[in-house]
Amino acid sequence: MLATQKKMQLSKVQGHDSGCECFFIKYGDVGIKLYDDEDHATRVADRQRKASEHGLGPDILGDVAAYCMPEDLIELAPLNMRKPVLYGYETEIVEVRSDTPWAAIKSLRLEMEDVWGCKIFDCGCRNAGWKSGKLVCIDFGDCSFEELS
Ligand SMILES: Nc1ncnc2c1ncn2[C@@H]1O[C@H](COP(=O)(O)OP(=O)(O)OP(=O)(O)O)[C@@H](O)[C@H]1O
Ligand SMILES: [Mg+2]
Repeated sequence: MLATQKKMQLSKVQGHDSGCECFFIKYGDVGIKLYDDEDHATRVADRQRKASEHGLGPDILGDVAAYCMPEDLIELAPLNMRKPVLYGYETEIVEVRSDTPWAAIKSLRLEMEDVWGCKIFDCGCRNAGWKSGKLVCIDFGDCSFEELS
């Protein structure tokens, strides 16, 4: 499927972070999760949509689109994602805290299994965030996430 194209502007970038698979940008009031492959971005978005429907993930705010990256923004991306076009979607921003207790992450993991039949591999405080007092999963990438068969 040919994704809608959106042009990014550096002036709207309020912060960024990244892991092995995702370039995350705080863009105005929303977050944008970017991946270097459209199919991967679509799988990630589908998982996050399912999680948010169960109250276990941030809200998805738009469909997967192709984001055209200006050069000054490409420089902020991790080395493996320095490309003129990345694929991703807008998401609600939740609060990622380094002092999130391990017990809360463990109970989120159990909840993901019970409620949804999914388990998060990469359980850690950087892959979960607080949404209205509830801890939710934020990392739905192929490397971090596995659905129970
Ligand atoms: N919805 C969100 N709200 C706030 N911050 C977020 C959100 N999604 C991602 N982030 C930030 O961006 C970082 C990278 O996102 P994410 O964990 O999805 O990437 P990744 O490349 O899959 O990570 P990993 O290296 O763990 O596989 C997170 O650790 C977090 O700081
Ligand atoms: Mg992560």
